[in-house]
Amino acid sequence: MVILGIETSCDETAAAIVEGPNEKGRVKILSNVISSTPDLLAKYGGVLPEQTARRQLESIIPVIQETLQQAQCQPQGLDAIAVTQGPGLIGSLLIGVETAKVLSVVWNKPLIPVNHLLGHFYANWIQDLPKFPNLGLLVSGGHTDLVLFTDHGKYQYLGGTRDDAAGECFDKSARALGLPFPGGPALAQQAQMGNPNAYKLPRPMINSGNFDFSFSGLKTAVINLLELVVQMKSEKLTPTELCDLCASIEAAIVDTLVKKTIKAAQRYQVEQIMVAGGVAANQTLKKNLAVECRRLKIPLHIPTPTLCTDNAAMIGSFACIYPQIIDPTHLEANPNLSLDNETSLPLD
Ligand code: KG4
Ligand code: ZN
Repeated sequence: MVILGIETSCDETAAAIVEGPNEKGRVKILSNVISSTPDLLAKYGGVLPEQTARRQLESIIPVIQETLQQAQCQPQGLDAIAVTQGPGLIGSLLIGVETAKVLSVVWNKPLIPVNHLLGHFYANWIQDLPKFPNLGLLVSGGHTDLVLFTDHGKYQYLGGTRDDAAGECFDKSARALGLPFPGGPALAQQAQMGNPNAYKLPRPMINSGNFDFSFSGLKTAVINLLELVVQMKSEKLTPTELCDLCASIEAAIVDTLVKKTIKAAQRYQVEQIMVAGGVAANQTLKKNLAVECRRLKIPLHIPTPTLCTDNAAMIGSFACIYPQIIDPTHLEANPNLSLDNETSLPLD
């Protein structure tokens, strides 16, 4: 199948043409276009929903035209249109969903709604061929979830964050340190030059008996520690202190994610582990998880960094592999779509 994927759940306006699955089950990208709003993010230090949606309204058609052109594909050449139904910002989701509905009717193409969270995992089928049973760790700006997949469309939610997501902890800690938004990549860059053991930070719920996470306490600990350090010196952090603090924050987040993921993998005796979402672009997470996976001989799948963060190729990839067609007049954007209720199917 050749599918046009559309993704507008947060500040990105993204469209991609993907083809697949091939005889092995993999999906190929023919084009992948992303338009974001770095000027708005820099100006407001985060996503301002209304301004973002207005920008997306202007860019959605040019982005779709560009992706068709780059793939040298005509609308007649498409087999279906896939779109992110949720979760996300309602104003942003509506732009993608309503555009996809109109194109589906006008071009007479089947419409496939995709849960953005599942879509993240399917970035892994673009480069790799994950096998089941597979433990999925989703780490994005809004989600930190552990999910046990036994097949396409068959999964069980094992646990997730009770408060802030891992990405949110990166972003809010980075903001407290005066780093630009989105803070995750900026903090990770400073962390590369720092000592992860320089500051002692909590690893909340790391030894809890379940697969839930909590990151808001870590964020508060970072803010308190920062105030203490700055107060004691009555001046700003030195570049070395900044790098050390970033490395210590990154280590606290990564240690927690790695420990719980490995524990779940052993408990459910999975064949493989796959990671997805923006924080999966973090090199320390990748490195530390890879060490544990090698030790336990569990293959690990992590998409390339550009496919970890929001994109439309992952939406198309999911739709190619697990197409669930819907009547366009019945599709509604759902900002609260999750993995632990509406979409999960019971395991056999
Ligand atoms: O999946 P994503 O692009 O959007 C959501 O669906 O939320 O994830 C964005 C999150 C942000 O919190 C961002 O700071 C984080 O992913 N992120 C990173 C890195 N790259 C992106 N966090 C840590 N290290 C990175 N290299
Ligand atoms: Zn996302």
